Amino acid sequence: AAEQHPDLDEILITEAQMQERLAELAKEIDRDYEGKDLLLVGVLKGAVMVMADLARKLTIPVTMDWMAVSSYGSGTKSSGVVRILKDLDTDVAGRHVLIVEDIIDSGLTLSWLARNLQSRGAASVAIASALRKKEAAKVDVDVRYLGFDIPNHFVVGYGLDYAEQYRTLPYVGILAKRVYER
Ligand code: PRP
Ligand code: MN
Ligand code: MG
Repeated sequence: AAEQHPDLDEILITEAQMQERLAELAKEIDRDYEGKDLLLVGVLKGAVMVMADLARKLTIPVTMDWMAVSSYGSGTKSSGVVRILKDLDTDVAGRHVLIVEDIIDSGLTLSWLARNLQSRGAASVAIASALRKKEAAKVDVDVRYLGFDIPNHFVVGYGLDYAEQYRTLPYVGILAKRVYER
């Protein structure tokens, strides 16, 4: 197993736990979308790791596309205002779309994105997320495929960053307070 990064207090989800859970979700997705034309939409940059791992566990043929959105103003809190920084290359009209995310925090990014893609005429829009902060949710997001519910801590790793750091850790851990309060 990977060594715990010195800036972390605790590992919440180990690499093995995450991969095992994603394998279960991939089985469900395989079943649910068999015979359908599925487009995976990853939300840059946090979703890069879960997209790569989940997509490679699927056995049905899929295509991938990416969006970059910004739901944060200058502050650290979600503003609810979502801006498209990079749009899809793909026309989603008539296609089954599965949005792939690393984490649902307030839920504002995903609730906006799901509605946005639905309004483009997608045949269906569903959500897969590696993590969800249950207590932080400001809006209810209907997650079809969820990895783990986690407590409301500042977490990093497996795509999640603090100031662009720690995304490449293969596990999810709680960032030590001293790191972001200094
Ligand atoms: C993070 C995370 C989700 C979003 C969740 O992305 O990756 O996309 O915030 O927050 P919400 O549920 O409160 O909307 P961020 O905006 O930090 O960009 P990043 O993926 O590039 O890190
Ligand atoms: Mn993100
Ligand atoms: Mg971020």
